[in-house]
Amino acid sequence: MTENDLDVHRSTEDVTEALRADVKAGLTATRKWLPPKWFYDARGSELFEAITALPEYYPTRAEREILNREAGEIARITGAHTLVELGSGSSEKTRLLLDALTDHGTLGSFVPLDVSESALADATESIAAAYPKLIVKGVVGDFTEHLDLLPGEQPRLVAFLGGTIGNFLPAERAKFLSSVRDVLEPGEWLLIGTDLVKDRETLERAYHDAAGVTADFNRNVLRVINARLGADFAVDEFRHESYWDAESEWIEMRLRATRDMRVRIPAAELEVTFAEGEYIRTEISAKFRSGGIGSELAAAGFATERWWTDAENRYGVTLARSARE
Ligand code: AVJ
Repeated sequence: MTENDLDVHRSTEDVTEALRADVKAGLTATRKWLPPKWFYDARGSELFEAITALPEYYPTRAEREILNREAGEIARITGAHTLVELGSGSSEKTRLLLDALTDHGTLGSFVPLDVSESALADATESIAAAYPKLIVKGVVGDFTEHLDLLPGEQPRLVAFLGGTIGNFLPAERAKFLSSVRDVLEPGEWLLIGTDLVKDRETLERAYHDAAGVTADFNRNVLRVINARLGADFAVDEFRHESYWDAESEWIEMRLRATRDMRVRIPAAELEVTFAEGEYIRTEISAKFRSGGIGSELAAAGFATERWWTDAENRYGVTLARSARE
């Protein structure tokens, strides 16, 4: 028995059942949609890693610039004993925080939580090897469901990076922030990354790169449904689109049917028809205004301690303290 291991909170059957429920809800709606968490099987997680290196996809680099500059300050302010990372993926940028917290001398354990078991297994293994004194406890789970299971000595710093908070609709966002606040004791910490509102062209290109990696990533949700639910989506006959909704201030990723189609999804006992030109909304990625997340954090019971942006003002990182008594 090693101290470094994976805690898996969902069986394969649970995951398939959750996908089935989402597919039924989303693909029988008048305006079809699918939740973005289903992009991330092993292939999808690899495609997302490839996205983070694309010239058009600036958020990863902008966030890294901020963490590079401020990790020492974050360690000094929080004095965290445990770093929890939600939706950690490969945990690449987390190393900046781990280095700073280790140098600061307070950190004892690292708890990455992700829906992708493959991404998490790779990440926990390489982090455990690079930080031999650290206790690494990977949690395979969904951060909208499994927050009550976060282990580790207090004070904990919960990092939710990459702008993933933008995947929630505003009402879900409020609920999520409250649920994070609920598991934290007063004085524990949340570090949250938010992409910022900017011109349409920059935003739409970040989600529609010239090399076609994001298109492949977007279509991956159909491959996941084919594989897990025995569906027969003609994956390549859906066109990838990114659309900046200036009113809602979010990017939408869409998959548009290039012809009339009938799709069978046996494991969901479903047959879905598409008219040519009809689309599935596969992701929203909300963008924020300077300080914009501050009022939402306050409404959830957090006090903003610091707010940083990159030199080009493309991206923001907020450090907030749980203020609940
Ligand atoms: C991982 C959710 C932050 O919304 O920018 C990247 C996912 N989708 N390109 C984002 C994504 C298309 C990404 N998040």
